[in-house]
Amino acid sequence: MADTKDLVLEVHGLKTNFYTYEGVVKALDGVELFLRRGDTMGLVGETGCGKSVTARSILRLVEPPGRVEEGEILFREIDPKTGEVNAVDILQLDEDEMLHIRGGKIAIVFQDPSTFPNPVFRIGDQIAEVILLHQDMKHDVLEMKINKLERILNMNPPPVNVSEIVAHLEQLRSMRGNPPEPDEKAKKKAAKWRAIEMLKLVRMPSPESVVNQYPHELSGGMRQRALIAMALACNPSILICDEATTALDVTVQAQVLNLLNQLKKEIGTSIIIITHDMGVVAETCNWVAVMYAGTTVETCATDELFANPLHPYTEGLLHAVPKLHEERERLPQIPGSVPNLIHPPSGCRFHPRCDFATEICKTEKPKLEEVQPDHWVACHHPRI
Ligand SMILES: Nc1ncnc2c1ncn2[C@@H]1O[C@H](COP(=O)(O)OP(=O)(O)OP(=O)(O)O)[C@@H](O)[C@H]1O
Ligand code: SF4
Ligand SMILES: [Mg+2]
Repeated sequence: MADTKDLVLEVHGLKTNFYTYEGVVKALDGVELFLRRGDTMGLVGETGCGKSVTARSILRLVEPPGRVEEGEILFREIDPKTGEVNAVDILQLDEDEMLHIRGGKIAIVFQDPSTFPNPVFRIGDQIAEVILLHQDMKHDVLEMKINKLERILNMNPPPVNVSEIVAHLEQLRSMRGNPPEPDEKAKKKAAKWRAIEMLKLVRMPSPESVVNQYPHELSGGMRQRALIAMALACNPSILICDEATTALDVTVQAQVLNLLNQLKKEIGTSIIIITHDMGVVAETCNWVAVMYAGTTVETCATDELFANPLHPYTEGLLHAVPKLHEERERLPQIPGSVPNLIHPPSGCRFHPRCDFATEICKTEKPKLEEVQPDHWVACHHPRI
């Protein structure tokens, strides 16, 4: 693995249980993930394997009867002033510190775009609220003023008092290092301006009118763009998209994925894409982690996974992936059924379905190990 300073997120030994009447659901049993700065990681696996619970655990959004039992979730930020890397263990933070991270540093977009946080408030007000909650508005107020003057200067015909405006603009620009403290009214105005800028960033058609619309007035694809705009409004270090495009039709899905790819280049956010679709992983992710029954079974670069799968489960998954130009399907069926997580199989959770299982597989849980350079597998008999 690369220098740990390059890793914006590291998850180790994450265990999350749900205490239900039927028994304890051992949903996550030692999840391991590495996310490098600027990467897009695909998190894949069959339904119920724990992708969403992993995302919720990272954001400490697991609700009773669920509980994160063990593990380490290291989030590494670069201090913009000193360039130093600071690491925190998310599981050790208090709730106030967590509020700062959730939505501000790590943002999530869920599957169903109809679940807009609040259906009765206008889109612009909802985005502005997130901005006001997480952002020190000094810079935004100054940028809004600068932007306004720049637009005036670009008007055709030009304004009569050009030299006066240029001088004022220069003065404002010189304050960028240390902007003055704005009043509440200016902050609110700047948050609304920033909301429109965010909608422009996600290529929302007519952003000036969309800010004044309600979620139900937008199409599914536009709502999903608005949700992404809201998630990105605070310039998070990590954006998690939990099946964010599954509910959309194929064309809109492609547009949104394309947008995420472009945005990553523009704003440098690291992204986790949770999906069932190996085609989405192939097209959008440069790194991938495969989960099975609450464990990480394999993680490596996407090209490497497709060319050289080393875990029997991944091999089975890829075996049935349709070739390019063939109709794409969801994860292919692997013989046998997904295990019951109240009474999970002993040792390797995949052993009842694995053609290569031996005695050790039934008793000893395999650890995720770097079997080949930058290629990690949890299997007693990797397919080398
Ligand atoms: N509130 C809950 N109570 C009990 N068990 C739960 C709860 N939420 C999740 N689980 C269990 O945790 C496991 C992982 O669920 P999770 O939602 O993370 O799967 P997933 O990989 O996201 O699946 P999908 O692809 O269908 O979204 C499942 O076995 C599920 O039954
Ligand atoms: S550890 Fe054993 S049972 Fe599990 S995937 Fe590897 S070979 Fe199969
Ligand atoms: Mg899910």
